[in-house]
Amino acid sequence: MPDPYEIDLMISAKSIAARIEDLSREIRETFKDTDKLVVVGLLRGSFVFIADLVRELDLPVEVDFLEASSYGDGMESSREVRILKDLRGAIEGRDVLLVEDIVDTGHTLKHVTALLETRKPKRLETIALLDKPSRREVDVKATWTGFEIPDEFVVGYGIDFAQRDRNLPYIGKVRFI
Ligand code: IMP
Repeated sequence: MPDPYEIDLMISAKSIAARIEDLSREIRETFKDTDKLVVVGLLRGSFVFIADLVRELDLPVEVDFLEASSYGDGMESSREVRILKDLRGAIEGRDVLLVEDIVDTGHTLKHVTALLETRKPKRLETIALLDKPSRREVDVKATWTGFEIPDEFVVGYGIDFAQRDRNLPYIGKVRFI
């Protein structure tokens, strides 16, 4: 059980929706010639983002999921990334968009993109809803980023703190009381 905390609004549901519309336009342009885009959600934090994103994309898509270990139940990144659940489908020769909730230290994105590259996709691009550049430990950047945020622990819109608060419709920052 985490210590008691409150959640302060950081990014409203309306701002997220507007940003997803813009990002979708860019993604659509990048993948306009695809026969079918494989959108890969990194579980569990991306599940709300990917649901909203694919509904804006207006491209033929397939959805698959990958789960990597990250924070466990705490606030510290584990650095060592393990694959807990692999993709169902093959991505060789396919157009792939990897969807992450937050790029923090960068270990997860770096590890997962390296893994997917070994499977020889035709094209692999990445999108993260949030980016905390000040926390970066490895040199990695998503192709598209929704919002750059400061070094705050955030929850909501699919993102959890010890498995709580994923169902908030906005992004909030955790403030201990
Ligand atoms: P990285 O490997 O350090 O970049 O960690 C990425 C993962 O850590 C994200 O996909 C999230 O699951 C988790 N994470 C990073 N920052 C936060 C946060 O502020 N709140 C909740 N989870 C976070």
